[in-house]
Amino acid sequence: MRSNNVVSRVGVIVAMATCAQRILPYANDLHYASSFSLRALMDDWRVIPHDRLRQHVIHTYRKGGGSRADVLLIDIDGHKAVLKDHNASDVGFGKLLGPLLVSREARALRRLDRISGTPRLYATPDSRSLLMEHMPGKPLGQFGDNPAWEKFFVKFECLLREVHANGVAHCDLRSPDNALICAPNQPAIVDFVACVFRGRRWNIISRWLFDQFSRADRNALIKLKKGVAPDLLTAEEERLLTERTALERIARVLGAGFRNLSRRLLTKNAE
Ligand SMILES: Nc1ncnc2c1ncn2[C@@H]1O[C@H](COP(=O)(O)OP(=O)(O)OP(=O)(O)O)[C@@H](O)[C@H]1O
Ligand SMILES: [Mg+2]
Repeated sequence: MRSNNVVSRVGVIVAMATCAQRILPYANDLHYASSFSLRALMDDWRVIPHDRLRQHVIHTYRKGGGSRADVLLIDIDGHKAVLKDHNASDVGFGKLLGPLLVSREARALRRLDRISGTPRLYATPDSRSLLMEHMPGKPLGQFGDNPAWEKFFVKFECLLREVHANGVAHCDLRSPDNALICAPNQPAIVDFVACVFRGRRWNIISRWLFDQFSRADRNALIKLKKGVAPDLLTAEEERLLTERTALERIARVLGAGFRNLSRRLLTKNAE
């Protein structure tokens, strides 16, 4: 009787040890699975590792390579997010500049967290990628005809004022791909990688620069308006379009020079 008891206890221990041995290699996955269901409740994307996110790509906005990041739409159980992944750019560029670009864009998105019309930062899955809110819309350049351009641009001007009031100048609004139209006629701004932050109160030069870049943003918005709805331009806006500040000229030359140089030095094929 006694020996039977001992045998069955040993059997239980052996069975438990075998189970543990089988389960342990999957411990990470189990952790992922439990945190995954938690995420569905808490909308917390931070627990999902980078490689898992890449298994849930449903659309590629931009294919990476050279100096460009992959920009991917992720869908997990109907929850959407956009992954901007600098791991996809050429190794030199991604390794050296990726972390810097991610930290700048993440910093801007954090600053703009309370604004509706800019994506919320969800997570930085690694030092070269960031995951953000999906803004369901179409880039301005692809939109075509819109009978409500006037209302749209009034809202867009308000949004840009809010962005500036929070200490961020976008600096790449000339590209019609960085301004989106979301339903119902709501503007959204993406791609803050080239942004400039407002300096501290005492830093007069940095604050002056910030004002100049904010002005360049406003001019870029007028340019976008001219592109899709030229009839809406006021006489003042027409005048502003012909004006280019000294800073805009310097920034353009420096920006193009830096881009060309970094592409030549850090990417395989200069694009
Ligand atoms: N949060 C977002 N929600 C919806 N669409 C987005 C979002 N972020 C980016 N996109 C889409 O992906 C496109 C490319 O993204 P983005 O502009 O950030 O990359 P990029 O222009 O390649 O970047 P970079 O200027 O850093 O080279 C955008 O034009 C837009 O259509
Ligand atoms: Mg862009």
